[in-house]
Amino acid sequence: MPPSTATPVTIIICLSFLPLLTYLFYIHHLKRISKPLPPPTRITNLFIYPIKSCHGISISSTTLLPTGLDLDRQWMWVTYPDHKFLTIRNFSKMTLIRPSYDASTDTLTITAPAPNSMDEKLEFEIPAHPSQKWLEENTEMVRATVWSAVTPAYSYPTTLTGPFNEFFGKEVRLVYKPPVSDSPRPLAGNGQKKYLGRDASTCFADLMPVLVGSEKSIAELNERLRKAEDISIDVRRFRPNILVEGIEAWDEDRWKSVLIASTSKSESWWRRKLRTGGVVLDVVARCARCRVPNVDPETADEHKRQPWDMLMKYRIVDPGITFKPCFGMLCVPRGNGGSIEVGMRVEVMEVTESHRYVVGM
Ligand SMILES: *[C@@H]1O[C@H](CO)[C@@H](O)[C@H](O)[C@H]1NC(C)=O
Repeated sequence: MPPSTATPVTIIICLSFLPLLTYLFYIHHLKRISKPLPPPTRITNLFIYPIKSCHGISISSTTLLPTGLDLDRQWMWVTYPDHKFLTIRNFSKMTLIRPSYDASTDTLTITAPAPNSMDEKLEFEIPAHPSQKWLEENTEMVRATVWSAVTPAYSYPTTLTGPFNEFFGKEVRLVYKPPVSDSPRPLAGNGQKKYLGRDASTCFADLMPVLVGSEKSIAELNERLRKAEDISIDVRRFRPNILVEGIEAWDEDRWKSVLIASTSKSESWWRRKLRTGGVVLDVVARCARCRVPNVDPETADEHKRQPWDMLMKYRIVDPGITFKPCFGMLCVPRGNGGSIEVGMRVEVMEVTESHRYVVGM
């Protein structure tokens, strides 16, 4: 074919692709535009679980530390003598162990029902923010195992925790990991430096320092549970730290970073934009769930099916973990954290379509 005829043919072919390319470009672009950042929402509740797997405490304000909310999962029960972590998965009655916090004396009181008595209680008291001196005088350093990590921790004396051996039906120890230490427990999975871009650590949480949950999402799940089995569950089963009102159920699946800041109604939007302060959370992964939410934290009764079965029907949403359903978002605080309280505004700063759960704890 002589060049003189080839060129018009090429041009015609190219031109005929132009509408298609334009169409594809717009579809791609419109999809992005059609899902703008959600409007700000607010914190409706804060929860801490001082001892891993034990009962939680609802609070109205606290400090967000780089390792998570102050007093969250800084203690855990371990086996003796090998110091292996114990969770609700091993023993659902652990949720009946209740820590309570007295700010005036800065103490935690730990109680549990006595195994062979209706009205007796097991109880001991510990400093909520123990000094180095108190730890040196009262505890012993051990190496505790939590999932695949072995990490140094302070083991409490049986003069305090002894009666709880009876509750567990075996010899146990309570161990403590301070939020600031020379031997922090590095984050695994999506929290590793190669994904997060910085070193970060937590105390005894399974994975990340903070779990954010949405009221809209738990309401949507409960609607399904009510229709199917005439039951509904409390969001505490999912053990979130920060509960937000939410705008649309499950929108949090795509959050990538959020800003938490105090709010004032009289403030104009541009003043808010200019104001510095607040704390930022990197939303690193969806939280893949096990069957722990089947346990009612008030009674320790375990439901045979729900909410596990329902979640398995429609909440397998992460390409990185196709055998577990997701609820809530795992987050890592940026910088040094700061004060946080119920009512604060939560603004999604970035969203992503590429969350992918990295397996491994
Ligand atoms: C407790 O359960 C966890 C998670 O299933 C497991 O890895 C651990 O080995 C169990 N510990 C004991 C002492 O049974």
